[in-house]
Amino acid sequence: MVLSACPGPPPPTGLPCDVAPVVSAKCLWCHGAPLRESAPMTLLTHADFAAKSMVDDAATVAQRSLLRVKQAAAPMPPSSGTPLTSDEVAAFERWVNAGAPAGTCSPDPDAGLPPDAGPPPTTCLSGVFKPKPTTTAPGGGPQMAPGWACRACHLGQNFQGQNPFGALGMTRAYDVMGTLYGAPNEKDLCVSSVGDAGVVVEIRDSTGTLVISAPVNAGGNFYGSVDLDAGIKMPYTARLVRGTARRDMMAAQTEGDCNQCHTEAGREGAPGRIQPP
Ligand code: HEC
Ligand code: HEC
Ligand code: HEC
Repeated sequence: MVLSACPGPPPPTGLPCDVAPVVSAKCLWCHGAPLRESAPMTLLTHADFAAKSMVDDAATVAQRSLLRVKQAAAPMPPSSGTPLTSDEVAAFERWVNAGAPAGTCSPDPDAGLPPDAGPPPTTCLSGVFKPKPTTTAPGGGPQMAPGWACRACHLGQNFQGQNPFGALGMTRAYDVMGTLYGAPNEKDLCVSSVGDAGVVVEIRDSTGTLVISAPVNAGGNFYGSVDLDAGIKMPYTARLVRGTARRDMMAAQTEGDCNQCHTEAGREGAPGRIQPP
C-alpha cells in the first residue's frame, strides 16, 4: 500500500499566481476549511477576498488583509503563524493595490519559458555562419547553406526568400536533404557543431524498405537519393542512427526537404532542428 503525502491546505481558487501560494502557505491553516484558531472567515476563494470586511464597512477583506499583514500590532498571521517575507508582502500589496483582480493559478504549460516571448530564442552553438549563397558566389557543395531549405533551392524554388535567383546552376535536387544540429533552435546558416557525430539518416519508403542511408557530413548536412533516381515511394519515414542509438520521426512524411519543417523555430509541428540520437 502506498501512503499519500500529508496533504497541505488546498490551494485557494481564483487568485493570481503571485498571491495564491502566499495565501496557501501563510493564511489557510486558520482561514481554510475547517476554520482554526478562532479565525472568523475563510480566505479560500477570490470571492472571500472581494467580500465586504466584517470590521470595516468601507473596506474589502482584501484591503483589510493587506492592512493586517503590514501592521506591527496584531499582525496577520498572528504570532502563532509564520510571518510573510518582505517579497510576499510586496506581492500581496501589488495585488491589493491593483484592485485585487481575480486570476487563475493552474500549472503553466509554458513554465520555464519567458512569458509570451513568442518563438523560443534562437542560438548558434558553433558561433560560425556560412555566407548566404548568391548568384556570383553560390558556394555550392556538400557543406553549404546549413539550416536552409536545400531541396527547394536545388529545385530553383524560393523558400522563405532564401533563393531569389531561380536556377543557380545546381546539378541536382536529392530526394532528401537536410541538416543535423546540436540544439533545437539553431539559426539559419549557423555551422552545425555535431557534423562529426557519426550519425546516418535512414529513409524507408512506404513499403518499409530502407532506400537511403545518408551519412551526416562534417558540416552537419546530409543528402541522398534512391538508386537510379526513381524517387521515393511516398510517404517515407526517417530514422537517425548512431551506433545503437536511434531517433525516429514518428509521423511519415512526403516532403524530402527536411529543413522546410525543421527550421530554426520549427514549422508544421516539427520540434525545430533535427538533433542526433
Ligand atoms: C494562526 C491563525 C491565523 C493565520 C495563519 C491567519 N489568520 Fe487572519 N485571523 C485569525 C484570527 C484568530 C482572526 C480574528 C481575530 C483578529 O482579527 O485578530 C483573524 C482575522 C483576520 C481578518 C479579519 C479581521 C480584520 O482585521 O479585518 C483578516 C482580513 C485576516 N485575518 C487576514 C489574514 C490573512 C491575509 C492571513 C494570511 C496572510 C491570515 N489572516 C492568517 C487567525 C489567523
Ligand atoms: C540558395 C540555394 C541553395 C541552397 C539553400 C542549397 N544549395 Fe546546394 N547548391 C546550390 C548551388 C547553386 C550549387 C551548385 C553550384 C556551385 O557549384 O556552386 C549547389 C551544390 C550543392 C552540392 C554539390 C553538387 C552536388 O549536386 O552534389 C551539394 C552536395 C549541395 N549543394 C548540398 C546542399 C545541401 C545539403 C543543402 C542544405 C543544407 C543545400 N545544398 C542548400 C544552391 C543551394
Ligand atoms: C512536413 C514537415 C516535416 C518534414 C518535411 C520532415 N519532418 Fe521530421 N518531424 C516533423 C514533425 C511534425 C515531427 C514531430 C513529430 C514526429 O516525431 O513525427 C518531426 C520529428 C522528427 C524527428 C524526431 C525528433 C525528436 O526530437 O525525437 C526526427 C529525427 C526527424 N523529424 C527527422 C526528419 C528528417 C531526417 C527529415 C527529412 C528526411 C524530416 N524529419 C522531414 C515534421 C517534418
